[in-house]
Amino acid sequence: MARTLDHLFDQNVVWAHRKTRDDPGFFRRMAEQQAPRYLWLGCSDSRVTANDVLGLEPGEVFVHRNIANMVHTSDMNILSVLEFAIDHLKVEHVVVCGHYGCGGVQQALASARGSMLDHWLQPLTMMYHKHRSLIDAIPNEVERLNRLCEVNIEMQVRRVAATPIVENAWARGQSLHVHGWIYAIHDGLLRDLGPHLSSISERDALPSIDQRVASPVEPISAMRRQAIDVFSNKAIPELPATLCCTPLDGPARPHTATDCD
Ligand code: CO
Repeated sequence: MARTLDHLFDQNVVWAHRKTRDDPGFFRRMAEQQAPRYLWLGCSDSRVTANDVLGLEPGEVFVHRNIANMVHTSDMNILSVLEFAIDHLKVEHVVVCGHYGCGGVQQALASARGSMLDHWLQPLTMMYHKHRSLIDAIPNEVERLNRLCEVNIEMQVRRVAATPIVENAWARGQSLHVHGWIYAIHDGLLRDLGPHLSSISERDALPSIDQRVASPVEPISAMRRQAIDVFSNKAIPELPATLCCTPLDGPARPHTATDCD
């Protein structure tokens, strides 16, 4: 087995050449500054890369990833990223993005315990155990996992919004929006799970995560329904074009050209 990774250096040279050919000023601009508008808090899964999923160039999204996109309020890593992104880069949007079929979330459903990962996933595991009767009542194993993937995102959105970093930004009037999204690896599409939070009062008005687990994640968008059905090997319904952006806590509204851009 090769001890060096020359092929990756070769690919890097090809990539840098291509970038320079297509946009001669690209690396000069990159070296001068970064001004991303978005902070992505995602899973470490190698298939869910923020720039690719969002169709963004280097410099356009600030990224933190860990297993199962967890937000631990004692995690200096994520807190440092959050503080730098909000206080210095002045990102306008923080996106917590998980994905269906997440192996980390699956581990939280498992009975075996003892690895470091189990410590990492503890808040989610506790959430599962607290609401075990509801989650376990879902007959399909894949749907059960995906339900917990959605719950996990809603929980982490609340945790982001509860950090003093985000609270202080809102208190001083900084424009900052926190989103909860989920990505489906099988079709490459993002779904907006909600909630959208732009202020302390919006955060405080949210139902608790326990309430959200107890009640179905409805109204469910057609896009999300389709993703869940694909994973569950159910018949896939036709997507009504008007419903792809149904807000979490409001009535369906007409789709506009920019809704899903
Ligand atoms: Co994952």
